[in-house]
Amino acid sequence: MILAIESSCDDSSIAVIDISSKELLFHKKISQELEHSKYGGVVPELASRLHAEALPKILKETKKFFPHLKAVAVTNAPGLSVTLQEGVIMAKALSIALNLPLIAVNHLVGHIYSLFIGKEEIKSMMVLLVSGGHTKLLNFNGIDDVCEIATTLDDSFGESFDKVAKMLGLGYPGGPLIENLAKKGKCTVTLPLPLKNSPDIKFSYSGIKNAVRLAIESQKYTSEDIAASFQKKAIEHLVFMSKRAIRKFRPKNFAIVGGASANLVLRSEFEKLSREFGFNLLYPDMKFTSDNAAMIARAGVEMYKKKMFVNYKDLKIMPRVEFKKCEG
Ligand code: KG4
Ligand code: ZN
Repeated sequence: MILAIESSCDDSSIAVIDISSKELLFHKKISQELEHSKYGGVVPELASRLHAEALPKILKETKKFFPHLKAVAVTNAPGLSVTLQEGVIMAKALSIALNLPLIAVNHLVGHIYSLFIGKEEIKSMMVLLVSGGHTKLLNFNGIDDVCEIATTLDDSFGESFDKVAKMLGLGYPGGPLIENLAKKGKCTVTLPLPLKNSPDIKFSYSGIKNAVRLAIESQKYTSEDIAASFQKKAIEHLVFMSKRAIRKFRPKNFAIVGGASANLVLRSEFEKLSREFGFNLLYPDMKFTSDNAAMIARAGVEMYKKKMFVNYKDLKIMPRVEFKKCEG
């Protein structure tokens, strides 16, 4: 078994997974959404203090698995340095106390493995990663072979939902709040489609966000219509750039992962694309879309099989990490 710890942002989570069956044996997460909600976003120092309280509480419940553990996996990058630190300190302490090797998992690769909990991995996919911190198109060919096709020049997809929700005074996280409000609205606000005249595959959300701000300030539209118009355009931009990448790389499998992959309008737009281009569309179970340790444990299984261990002294937190760029 592998025990995994996740604390890259505002979810404290621990999971235990069986290495051969890939089944989850234990999984618990304590979310801090309520505590951060009144600030309209995550406050790093508060998040760190809450992890320091929550992680030991969850760990206590996993004691019966300790004799069966073969490794400890932990998210060490990317994320907030003060929160990553909490998980990494715990992982190091466990590895010393139980004499176990350490596995350092990239949170973004973890999101990809949210697709494979209790399952075998699919080795070749294009991945659209849409979370609070990132918006990326990736080519995935296994745990040690991930390259980047495109990333965002400014805000991420999820972050733009959070910022629009804040402007509308809705709270945090904005994604589900905007998605809900949009159901009652009509797309009456004209918003720009970012980078449509540039030949590149890139994302940008600052233009849509600013146009939404001006629409709110004009006081001409209802919050419902603003939410509906914003969501439609934000998703249209993902579809527009993904199409370019799909035409270029012709993937057989296409996955959407990350917190914002919970958005049902997004899922249905990519269902249309999958019919148009004939690829197999994958997304995680709803319970594994947002941050969790189960996905870190599942990625840890593949790293364990490849003996991708890290020494105690070399395990460092990395708030930012880059993927290599895809060729072609
Ligand atoms: O992956 P995640 O849990 O945390 C990070 O690694 O960032 O993603 C959280 C992000 C937040 O920005 C949240 O607003 C967004 O995912 N999100 C959504 C939806 N549910 C969560 N965005 C759009 N629609 C949703 N239904
Ligand atoms: Zn995440």
